This record gives sequence, structure tokens and C-alpha cells, in this order.
Amino acid sequence: MSRVGPEFPTSSSPNSLLGQKMRPPLVAARMRLPLVAVVALLAFIPESLTSWEEWWTYDGISGPSFWGLINPQWGLCSKGRRQSPVNIEAEKLLFDPRLRPLHVDKHMISGSLHNTGQSLVLRVNQDSKHHVNISGGPLDYRYQLQEGYIHYGNTDGQGSEHRVNGYQFPAEIQLYGFNAELYHNMSEAQHKSQGIVAISLMLQIRDKPNPELHVLTSSFGQVAYRGQSAPFRHLSVRALLPDTNHYMTYEGSTTHPGCWETTVWIILNKPIYITRQELYALRKLMQGSPETPKAPLGNNARPLQPLHHRTVRTNIDFFREQGKNCPKMYKDHYYRANPWSEDNRSQGRNSGDMP
Ligand SMILES: *[C@@H]1O[C@H](CO)[C@@H](O)[C@H](O)[C@H]1NC(C)=O
Ligand SMILES: *[C@@H]1O[C@H](CO)[C@@H](O)[C@H](O)[C@H]1NC(C)=O
Repeated sequence: MSRVGPEFPTSSSPNSLLGQKMRPPLVAARMRLPLVAVVALLAFIPESLTSWEEWWTYDGISGPSFWGLINPQWGLCSKGRRQSPVNIEAEKLLFDPRLRPLHVDKHMISGSLHNTGQSLVLRVNQDSKHHVNISGGPLDYRYQLQEGYIHYGNTDGQGSEHRVNGYQFPAEIQLYGFNAELYHNMSEAQHKSQGIVAISLMLQIRDKPNPELHVLTSSFGQVAYRGQSAPFRHLSVRALLPDTNHYMTYEGSTTHPGCWETTVWIILNKPIYITRQELYALRKLMQGSPETPKAPLGNNARPLQPLHHRTVRTNIDFFREQGKNCPKMYKDHYYRANPWSEDNRSQGRNSGDMP
């Protein structure tokens, strides 16, 4: 398969995200229902369903187009202009020389996997003394890893929420942490400034199993239905990360309700690998209970959101690596501050300029 579309410089390594073989984005057929239908349906929600947290889906009349309508607290899902996921366009990336390497603590964690009926969610035990710290990169604070979401497709051609030049990976693992220097936990931090970091790992299919990912995939059979959970132990999140210091970063939102616009996204520039067997086990998970299994849990990706005026920055120095002329934040021109004396001040006043 040859590359389609314009060719972009890749980072030094051949299997990085930028430089992936591209294919046209899939246009998912989505159901659009008039607002009347939602209102009519809201009237029929059983009173026992007290928690909004449980009543949303990835399709139909409780799907992404309606998240902002079904719960007034989730207004950002429909009105927000700094939403996620987005399509990363290689040609619009801006190299930022101030971006540092990302730091993630390497020690083992324990926690549990949950089938919530919407996603497969990984919850990290918070009681342990040794929290996994996430810092560096574009971050100004230390964040504490709290949870992860697994988004995947029921077929290979879809799955990930973020895309790279339109390419959708078969799956994406998103690791969320909260700002532990300013806030106590995720539920407090998600509403607040600089509250959340999300690290995105793209998954690609390969025969060779990834031992770290296996800690999670070996429990898939125990979370086949909504409400089921399974503990895991001895997972090193650092060891799960792909072998690269390169990433793309932008300011966005959680990709699930309430679409909080307090999230710094970091998308690592190499995929990690999942086997066909593991993906098959994942695709057997269901949205419902054993009695009413409903549909498979997969295809749980929120549609792409417009970037609007946001910039996606990268620490990949295309210019240095390829000798090509890409947009960059290195300065070619500099401002100069004039000495500030009584003389200058009167001159400035005359000319109407500051320096
Ligand atoms: C994470 O950061 C906190 C605060 O600096 C520290 O007490 C803790 O030991 C760190 N965790 C690890 C695993 O280094
Ligand atoms: C999160 O922290 C806030 C503020 O300390 C507290 O009121 C709330 O109960 C905590 N929530 C959870 C789920 O721990």
C-alpha cells in the first residue's frame, strides 16, 4: 500500500503515527432525530434511573449529538468549542521547542477493569501510597493517574477517537490523571482550570503479544456484561507506553460526558500493539446484562470535533530531522526593548508608540 495524499516528514522511527499509511476517513452513518423525539423520550425515563451517569450511549437518541441536551450539566458537549477528539493534521502541527519529555512513574499499580455499558474503564487504586505521577511534557503541574478508557471498533477499520490525517486506529487507550497539586480528585478537578491530563495510546494489530497489555486483556472474559468488574495487579503504565519521546499536544475536553474543557491531551507518536485474539475477546463484550446483552460494547468513539482556532503542538522537530521548512516556533525575528528614560517617554508620546 502506498501513501495517499501529501507526504509528511516522519519522526526518526518508521512505525510512528506521523508517517502511518493513510486511508480516507470512514464516515459513520449517524442517526439524527429531532429534538422532539428526545423530549418525548425523556418523559419515559423510569424514575428508578436516578443517575444521569448511566443514561448515555454512542448511538441513537442518547448518543453523542444529544449528550448536551439530555443533561443540563453537560452543555459543553453541544456548545463547547474546545472539544475532543480531533483529527491531527500533520501539515498543521506546530513545532514547539519548549515542550519537554513526558514523565510517567514506572512502578506497578493495581486497580480494576469495569464494563460500564458505555466503555471498558480502568480504575487505578487511589488508596496506595505510590500514586503514578504524570508531569513534564506540556504540563505545568503534577498529575495523578486515576482512570483509563478503552475505545475500540467492532471491525478493524474503526475504533480510535483521535485520528491522524484521517486514519482511525483499531483502538485507543486513554489514560486520565487529575492535577494533584491543585485538586483532591478527578470529580473536583474536571470542572477546574488545568484540571485533567489525558494520554492517548493508539493501538495497532500485531501477532506478538504485549506483556504489559496482557495484564488487562487477560481479564476481558470477566467483564463481558454491564456492571461486571475484574481486578488487575502489577501493571506498569510506563512499560505500557510506546517507546518514543515524541508526542502531539492540544487543549481539549474529556471525550465522554460532561465533555469538560479542562483537559490537556498528549497523543504519543507511536502505537502499541494488540493481537487479533485480544481484539476478538474485546469485541465479545456487551453493552447490557447477561439477560439482555443488547449490542456489542465496541464502536464507542465520539465523532470528531472541530478544532476551531486551536493549535496542535509537537516536540518533533521536523526541521532538524528532515531539513524541510515546516511551521515552527523558533524565532527568526526578535523584538527589542528600548531603554526607558525621560527622553524616550516624551519621544514615545509624540510618535504615539510605546517602544
Ligand atoms: C509522586 O509525587 C509525590 C509528590 O511529589 C511523591 O510523594 C510520590 O512519591 C511520587 N510517586 C512516585 C511513585 O514517585
Ligand atoms: C473529591 O474531593 C472533594 C473536595 O475535597 C470532595 O468533596 C469529594 O467528596 C471528593 N469526591 C470523591 C469522589 O472522592
